[in-house]
Amino acid sequence: MPLYPEYIIQEVIDKNDIVDVVSKQVRLKKSGANYMGLCPFHNEKTPSFSVSPTKGIFHCFGCGVGGSVINFVMKTENLTFTEAVKELAARANIVLPQINGYDSNKEKEIRDQKEILFNINEKAASFYFSYLSKDEGKVAVEYFKERKLDGKCAKLFYLGYSPNEKRKLFDYLVGEGFSESDILKAGLITKHENGDYYDKFRGRVMFPIFNVNDKIIGFGARRIDENVMPKYLNSPETLVYNKSKNLYALNLAKKSKKDFVILVEGYMDVISLMRYGFYNVVASLGTALTTEQAKLLKRYFNEVVISYDSDEAGQTAARRAIGILRDAEIKASVIKVDNAKDTDEFIKKYGSDRFNLILTKRKGDIAYLMDVLGEKYNLKNNDEKVLYVNELIPYLQKVTNSVELDVLVSEISAKTSISSQAIYLQIGKTKAKLTDDFSPKATVPHFGASTKDKLSRTQEMLLSLLINEPKLLVKAESILEDDLFDDELLKKLFTTLKEKKDHDIDASYLMTAFEEEDVAKITKIISIDTRCEDTLKAVKDYVLSIKEEKRRIEIDKLVKQGDINALNEIFKNNQKGEIRL
Ligand code: GTP
Ligand code: MN
Repeated sequence: MPLYPEYIIQEVIDKNDIVDVVSKQVRLKKSGANYMGLCPFHNEKTPSFSVSPTKGIFHCFGCGVGGSVINFVMKTENLTFTEAVKELAARANIVLPQINGYDSNKEKEIRDQKEILFNINEKAASFYFSYLSKDEGKVAVEYFKERKLDGKCAKLFYLGYSPNEKRKLFDYLVGEGFSESDILKAGLITKHENGDYYDKFRGRVMFPIFNVNDKIIGFGARRIDENVMPKYLNSPETLVYNKSKNLYALNLAKKSKKDFVILVEGYMDVISLMRYGFYNVVASLGTALTTEQAKLLKRYFNEVVISYDSDEAGQTAARRAIGILRDAEIKASVIKVDNAKDTDEFIKKYGSDRFNLILTKRKGDIAYLMDVLGEKYNLKNNDEKVLYVNELIPYLQKVTNSVELDVLVSEISAKTSISSQAIYLQIGKTKAKLTDDFSPKATVPHFGASTKDKLSRTQEMLLSLLINEPKLLVKAESILEDDLFDDELLKKLFTTLKEKKDHDIDASYLMTAFEEEDVAKITKIISIDTRCEDTLKAVKDYVLSIKEEKRRIEIDKLVKQGDINALNEIFKNNQKGEIRL
């Protein structure tokens, strides 16, 4: 059992890339989304040891060991859990709390501290918002009007204005009873060396940033006067604000219940799109898209539509985002807001019908790259053909579905008249090998196994699907009943997942909640290949299959016991229909 608090262990896992750590001991080769190598825990000649960077786990198909980066260090260096955490923390320059001093008190202290920061942010947002109806805030209202934002927008996004005075917010927060040190921790006030306090965002329009649970974690503050520098000031990283792990407006976008989400660059782009009725839109927080953000989006959506600024910087950022989204194995596509500098300007200039049109005509991520590069290079020139293909290779290497890859390679081959084989060679995979490691599965497993084996196998497949795609926990909430699992370990795994459904679930973190001996089994479950067309349908199929298997086992038992009454009861209920979801 871990002795360190949750956030520390998560940080240790986040900051020690499992591929890097394992690579120090094992020679790894990329294979699809995973890496393969010779297992360091048993003797073998052909690699059966696999590392999944997205899941953050390793697993050996040969000897069955597996776990998170922490388990790997425990095993290779023969350390206890705590020792391994210490070692990995040291490697990543993470300062650990005093372990003797640590207990649930510390955890509680941090929770309380977070709560205080949320409260300060909430008060600050209402303070900024109130200025929109004061004389001093007229400049902000004028600015918003100029950008076609009305009162409804201001309410929905809780926009505001930070008065252009030295310490109005500071005094207000003190008046609300917050301590000076807590106020400083929230990051909205600067304390100068001479002891003076300054509101950081003086004279700017304010955009509160919410987390997925509708709590205000920070602010973006835009200049009103275009001569002021910089254009935006944002909250610094605090205990509650981490700009690489959150996305602007995700709290609203997730409620749209749309299948895809539009990813834009700026706060203004988000607000404009929502004003025109597109609620499935988010922006990153002033940095390039991160892996954490991609994973976060994957929890709520099946596809990300990139709609970045049309300038060079925007298009370069789009290519980067494609790589990140491919690595996270979430479907991505791209639209171009031609004849406008950004999405905000596009929707204002051309309206929602036109935007809808480009949305429906969106290009798949790699098709988009092929277009862009097709314009950059003259494909009639041999040298340029090679450059064209070479620029595409890194993206093609990220394609895990061999059918998709084959379609893309054929298309590139046709465009350039370079043979498919040569392109495959460059990708570093042979066609045969690819077909090997992609085996489409029937949704419900049909083995010649006994009913009991089939039941536990189906339960494991279901759990794997839920771990790998946690948004299914929400989507299928109504049918995921507690009595689907009877094995203690599976049951605990399921309840842990359900408890975490509103938070980030990270497969490798999940394992830290379990005893060592269970970790290998859980890794095996997480490693099950659950790729299929329609995962929600798969969940339904599994649940149905589990219910049927359980009933069959129950009937078997009653037949053996000769309990006719109980059997009749079951069949009577059954006449009303099949098991329903
Ligand atoms: P408008 O020019 O008002 O349309 O702003 P925008 O929100 O569209 O911003 P832009 O496209 O210039 O930049 C995209 C995002 O990058 C912004 O929403 C901010 O999050 C961030 N950003 C832009 N400029 C700055 C800056 O000067 N400093 C910081 N820290 N972030 C910035
Ligand atoms: Mn912009």
